[in-house]
Amino acid sequence: MNLDYLSGFGNEFASEALPGALPVGQNSPQKAPYGLYTELFSGTAFTMVRSEARRTWLYRIQPSANHPAFIKLERQLAGGPLGAVTPNRLRWNPLELPSEPTDFIDGLVGMVANSAAQKPSGISIYTYRANRSMERVFFNADGELLIVPEQGRLRIATELGVLEVEPMEIVVLPRGLKFRVELLDAQARGYVAENHGAPLRLPDLGPIGSNGLANPRDFLTPVAHYEDQKKPTTLVQKFLGELWACELDHSPLNVVAWHGNNVPYKYDLRRFNTIGTVSFDHPDPSIFTVLTSPTSTHGLANLDFVIFPPRWMVAENTFRPPWFHRNLMNEYMGLIQGAYDAKAEGFLPGGASLHSCMSAHGPDGETCTKAINVELAPHKIDNTMAFMFETSQVLRPTQFALDCPQLQTTYDACWASLPATFNPNRR
Ligand SMILES: [Fe+2]
Repeated sequence: MNLDYLSGFGNEFASEALPGALPVGQNSPQKAPYGLYTELFSGTAFTMVRSEARRTWLYRIQPSANHPAFIKLERQLAGGPLGAVTPNRLRWNPLELPSEPTDFIDGLVGMVANSAAQKPSGISIYTYRANRSMERVFFNADGELLIVPEQGRLRIATELGVLEVEPMEIVVLPRGLKFRVELLDAQARGYVAENHGAPLRLPDLGPIGSNGLANPRDFLTPVAHYEDQKKPTTLVQKFLGELWACELDHSPLNVVAWHGNNVPYKYDLRRFNTIGTVSFDHPDPSIFTVLTSPTSTHGLANLDFVIFPPRWMVAENTFRPPWFHRNLMNEYMGLIQGAYDAKAEGFLPGGASLHSCMSAHGPDGETCTKAINVELAPHKIDNTMAFMFETSQVLRPTQFALDCPQLQTTYDACWASLPATFNPNRR
C-alpha cells in the first residue's frame, strides 16, 4: 500500500493509482479510462471566488449515487443535546477510554457547540475515544472535520487515499468525504472540531511576509488508493446532526484517480515555525494560528486553530505567561502533550477548558506569582503542545459535558490564590 503524500496547500493536486487513469485535458470524457465513472465532489459553491473555491474530480469504480435509502440509526452520537447556557469558566479532566468495543463514531462525544447543524457557520467540538477500528465507512454532511489526536495513531482510509497520523499531527477531512478510521494502537483519544463554516485555510501573514507559521509545503495530501471489494459495507452519514446508514455491496473507497483541491490533508504540528518577541511583551496569541476558517467579516474567524508549541521565552522586563484577559472570542483549549505554561496543575493531556466571550481568565495563582518574581533569563518551554479552537460565537456545553464527573467543580479556585500585592506606598 502506497503511503506517499503530495505536499502543498490549496493548490491543484492530481493522483492516480493506475497509470493513465486520470483523463488528460478534460474533466468528464465520454468514456473515462479503465471504465471508471466520473464524479464531481464540491466543497464550496460553484461561484465562490477562485481563492476560496474547493472541488475535486473523482474517477471511481462505482459512482456514489449507487446506494439504497439511508435509514436513521438507533444509536446516535453521544453527548446529547446542548445544555443550559453558562457564562462560567469550565474545565474538564480527560474522559475515560471505553471498556466496551467502541469505534471512532461510537466513541465521538459532543462537548460544546455554537451552531445548529443546519446553519452554514459555527463549530461543534467533540472528544473521541476508541479501542477498535471502524469497519463501516462514514461521511459528515454537516461540516469539515479537524482531528487532533492526543493518544494513539490512526490510519484514516479516505476516498482520496490513506493518511496515517499520530499525536502531534492533525488531519483535516473535507465535508462529505467518505472515510474509515482504523487504530494502529490498542486505543485512541483526541479532539475533533467540526467546522460548519468556510473551509479551513492558512491565515494571511501580513507583515510577517511570505514565510512562517505553518508553511504550505508541510501540508500533506494522500495519493490515490482504491478498494475494489465486493464486501458488504455499511455507509454512515451525519446529516443535520443525526446518524443515518445504508448497506452497500461494495467498498465506497473506490476512487482510482482524482484531481482537485477539495482534499484531506495532514500536518505535523512540530513543523510550525513559531514566532514571538525578541524584545519585550509578547504578541497576541493569533501569532500561533495554524489554520483559520474566516467569516464574511474580515479578520473575524468562525474557527481559528491555534497551537502553543515548544518555544524560547526571551522577553525582557516582561510578564511572560499569557496575560490576564477578557476577549470577544470564545476559547476551547486542549492539551496534547506536557503542561501548558499558564497553568501549574489541573489541565491535563486529553482534558479541556472553555473560556467564553468576556469571561476573565489567565494564569493561575501559582504561575502568576512565580512569573512576577522569577529572575528573567532566556528559557525554553519544552515538551508541550497545547492548542485552542477559537470561535466568534458563544459555545454552549452539551448536557453530557455539564453532567460528566470529569467537569471540575473547583476550577475558579485556581485564581483565588492570587496574592494581594497592591501597596499605595510602594511604587
Ligand atoms: Fe484565553
